[in-house]
Amino acid sequence: MNTPISGNLPRAIGIIGGGQLGRMLIYCSCKLGFQYVVLDPDPFASAKPLANHFIQGSLYDPVSLRKLLEHSDLATYEIEHIDTKTLREAEDAGYQLYPSPRLLETIQDKLVQKEVLSKAGVPMPRFFRFDGTGKDPGNTLLSLTQSNGISYPLVQKSRKGGYDGRGVKVLRSPADPLTDVPSIIEEYIPFQKELAVIVARDREGNTALYPVVEMVFNPDHNICDTVLAPARVPSDVTNEAYRVARLAVEALEGVGVFGVELFLTSEGKVLLNEVAPRPHNSGHYTIEACLTSQFEQHIRAITGLPLGATDLIRPAIMLNLLGESDALGVPFVEGFKEALSIPGVSIHLYGKREVRPFRKMGHVTILGTTTEEVLRKAEQIRGILKVRSVET
Ligand SMILES: Nc1ncnc2c1ncn2[C@@H]1O[C@H](COP(=O)(O)OP(=O)(O)OP(=O)(O)O)[C@@H](O)[C@H]1O
Ligand SMILES: [Mg+2]
Repeated sequence: MNTPISGNLPRAIGIIGGGQLGRMLIYCSCKLGFQYVVLDPDPFASAKPLANHFIQGSLYDPVSLRKLLEHSDLATYEIEHIDTKTLREAEDAGYQLYPSPRLLETIQDKLVQKEVLSKAGVPMPRFFRFDGTGKDPGNTLLSLTQSNGISYPLVQKSRKGGYDGRGVKVLRSPADPLTDVPSIIEEYIPFQKELAVIVARDREGNTALYPVVEMVFNPDHNICDTVLAPARVPSDVTNEAYRVARLAVEALEGVGVFGVELFLTSEGKVLLNEVAPRPHNSGHYTIEACLTSQFEQHIRAITGLPLGATDLIRPAIMLNLLGESDALGVPFVEGFKEALSIPGVSIHLYGKREVRPFRKMGHVTILGTTTEEVLRKAEQIRGILKVRSVET
C-alpha cells in the first residue's frame, strides 16, 4: 500500500486495459494527483505513454492481473473482456475493485445481464435464450418465437464476447441462417432513435446522471460515429430515459460510471439495450461539454470522492474519427490544422500506431451555442478530417 494522497484515498490506481478509454481516464483525472498502473497486451497501447507504470500482459493472465493489483491500491477496468475469476478472488481477499468483478460477470453474458435487469423491472425488448443450431433440431426456433410471442425480424446476439456490433445479427426471415453460438434472440425494435445516458454511482449509492444523448450509428459498419448532446426528444422521454438508466445501474449495484444504451421506440417508449460497466463512447463529449467529464467522474466514484456536477455547458456533438475504408498502416490525419482552426472544435487522437478500416483512431468534440450550429460544424468537419494511412 502506498501512502494515501489524503484521508484514506488510494495513491496508485490500476487500470485493466490500456486502450483509449484508459488513456482518457488518465488524462482527465491525473489533475487529482493519482498515479496510474496500466495492464495491456499491446506494447504500444494508447494509455501506456501516460501511465506511471505499464505492465505488458494478457487481460486473461492471472499472473499479470495479480501483478497489476500488487502495484496499485485500487483497480478498475476499461474493457469488459477480461478474466473475472482472478479478480473475484482478489475482491474476496479484500482488494478494492470497481465495478465489482461479480457485476462484470453479469454484464459479460448478455443473457444473464438481461435476466437480472428484466427481473428488476427494467423495460427492454422481449428475448429468449438460444443454445446454438446444434441444439436446435427441427423447428425449435419457430416454436420458441411462437411461445414467446415474437416474430421476424429477430436479432441474434452472442451471449459473450461481442463489441462494436460484432456478434449481433439481424434475421429478416427464416431463410437467414442462425449463427451456431450460445446466444439470445430478441425482437427487432424499429427504433426512432438510439439514446444513451451516462450514469455515475458512488460507493454510498449516490447517483449523478449526464444529459440524455442521441447516438447515430453508421450503417456501413455498425459503429456509433456521432453523438449529439442534448438529445432532440421531449422532456417526458428524457425523464423516462433517466428513470430506466438509473434503475438499471441501481439493479446492478454498480459503482463507477456506466454507459446505458437505450432505444426510443416509434411509439415513444424507452427500452434498455445494454449497459457498459465503464466510461462509454457516448460520453466522450463530457470532456469539453460538461462540468465534470465521465472519466474524472469514474475515478471520483471508485475512489470514494464526491461525485462532480454533470451540467451541460453548451450543446455539443462528438464524431468518432474512424480509419478510412482503405486505410491500412501508419496513420495520417488529413485536415488536422484546418479542423482545429474552427472555433469550438477539440480533437482527441488516441496515439494508435496503426490505422485499419473503421478503427477508432480518435474523436472530435464540437461545442456551439445551438444544436443547429454544432450540426452544421459537424458536417464541415466531416468533409475536412480523414484518417488515412501514409501509404494510401
Ligand atoms: N433488438 C434490436 N432491435 C434493433 N436493433 C438492434 C437491436 N439490438 C441491437 N440493435 C442494433 O445493433 C447495435 C449493436 O447492438 P448491441 O449494443 O447489443 O451490441 P454490441 O456488440 O454490444 O455493440 P457495442 O459494443 O457497439 O455497444 C445497436 O446499437 C443497435 O443499433
Ligand atoms: Mg451496444
